[in-house]
Amino acid sequence: MLSDRSRPVIEATLPAVADNIEEIATRFYDHLFGEHPELLDGTFNRGNQAEKTQQMALAASVAVFASSLVKTPEELPEHLLSRIAHKHASLGIAPELYDVVHDNLFWAIVDVLGDAVTPEVAAAWDEVYWLMAFALINQERGLYSARGVRPDTVWREWEVAEKIQETDDVVTFRMRRTDDRLVRTSLPGQYVTVQVPMPDGVRQPRQYSLTRADDAEHRQFSVKRVRGGDKPDGEVSNHLCENVQVGDRLTLSLPFGDVVLDDSRPVVFASAGIGVTPMAGMLSHLVEAGSHLPITVLHADLDEGSFALRQQVLDDVAKLPGASAHVWYENGAHSTLPVDVHGGIMNLDDVKLPHDAGYYLCGPLPFMQGIRSALIDRGVSPRDIQYEVFGPDLWQADLVTEQAPGRHSA
Ligand SMILES: Cc1cc2nc3c(=O)[nH]c(=O)nc-3n(C[C@H](O)[C@H](O)[C@H](O)COP(=O)(O)OP(=O)(O)OC[C@H]3O[C@@H](n4cnc5c(N)ncnc54)[C@H](O)[C@@H]3O)c2cc1C
Ligand code: HEM
Repeated sequence: MLSDRSRPVIEATLPAVADNIEEIATRFYDHLFGEHPELLDGTFNRGNQAEKTQQMALAASVAVFASSLVKTPEELPEHLLSRIAHKHASLGIAPELYDVVHDNLFWAIVDVLGDAVTPEVAAAWDEVYWLMAFALINQERGLYSARGVRPDTVWREWEVAEKIQETDDVVTFRMRRTDDRLVRTSLPGQYVTVQVPMPDGVRQPRQYSLTRADDAEHRQFSVKRVRGGDKPDGEVSNHLCENVQVGDRLTLSLPFGDVVLDDSRPVVFASAGIGVTPMAGMLSHLVEAGSHLPITVLHADLDEGSFALRQQVLDDVAKLPGASAHVWYENGAHSTLPVDVHGGIMNLDDVKLPHDAGYYLCGPLPFMQGIRSALIDRGVSPRDIQYEVFGPDLWQADLVTEQAPGRHSA
């Protein structure tokens, strides 16, 4: 781990780096894209750059990693590394690019901190960078080799076989393979990166959770249009929903993602809005597997009209002998569904939770934080709660200190 020579230097400079890390991350990306504009075409998500969420996620991850090296050197923040490695693998990041990121990151550190970066300080942070980089490179190498691919062969062309309007704002894309090559399996809960050519000629990557179990021929995902309000509308979601039609081709990565179903124990799914998508994928897998486990499906939405994939989800609940569902509608309990429907926001007070369950959360951050707190109040262990964030994970930094080693829980 960190050498005896570097440890006191990192301890002494961590507060200064942490205070400036977002500025460092911002200048790093500006410099990186100036030097390597090709990374803006198909690799980086320009929506996350505009919102600054990727800059914040990179900054938080480096700060968390460095402080764990000094505070708990015996355990690395495994779940943080695993989330990043899966995201990188879904974008086909190659090990050679770590040198490029290194050079641009250290340029930004010197640009922001100036003379404070003595040769001794630079050497200590260099050591931190490469410890983190090699941890990621090794995990990514493992992910690629387990699938028998290289970074540049994670991509494959698929054809839109069906386009289904689920709700006013959500469209499901059922993709069919375009050749006879084997379709590699996904784990329930995983996502693909879809690389979409935009009207300005730049390819934009976005992740979408798989909503159906594998059938060796298709991949299925559902896209919610992002309405901008006073900001720009989401470019890829609106483009896919409006312009991509049956017969068109799209480039998809292999499935990756570390929030995957443990189907050896009771399960509770809690989702809100479009957060239903990974739950639909996991439920579909449980149906295919003929599961008899206790399964509790909890979903919150605005109203019945906005509950995407509701028919699929409730059909699957009906096929699973151990499954039950509760639904909450913010606009009131008006419903024709044959399950418990409540008015208002999700409230777990009257919900019976199975013993020794694994919990999966997906939805807006405040929703997940509220449900996680309610579960912990009910005695659920944080290590039994996993969550999926539909964007760069800005939650990890707050939670990393309360994790058990080796578990990527909420
Ligand atoms: C693991 C994972 C799984 C996911 N699964 C799903 C799924 O199953 N279904 C689904 O619908 N989505 C899913 N997502 C989200 C999806 O990947 C996209 O983030 C989403 O579709 C929005 O993309 P977009 O291009 O439409 O929006 P973007 O164009 O990226 O915009 C995103 C936000 O940035 C703002 N913005 C953009 N440009 C600017 C600017 N210049 N100034 C200020 N603000 C700006 C927009 O207003 C918007 O609020 C998932 C994400 C992850 C990480
Ligand atoms: C030690 C080095 C690195 C660290 C600490 C790091 C950290 C991160 C983090 C925290 C995320 C967000 C993960 C999430 O979704 O929650 C991320 C995403 C990403 N990283 Fe890295 N990364 C490193 C190296 C690289 C390299 C070498 C590349 C190649 C150019 C790269 C390209 C990307 C891309 C394209 C994304 C997705 C960005 C987005 O969707 O906005 N990273 N990385």
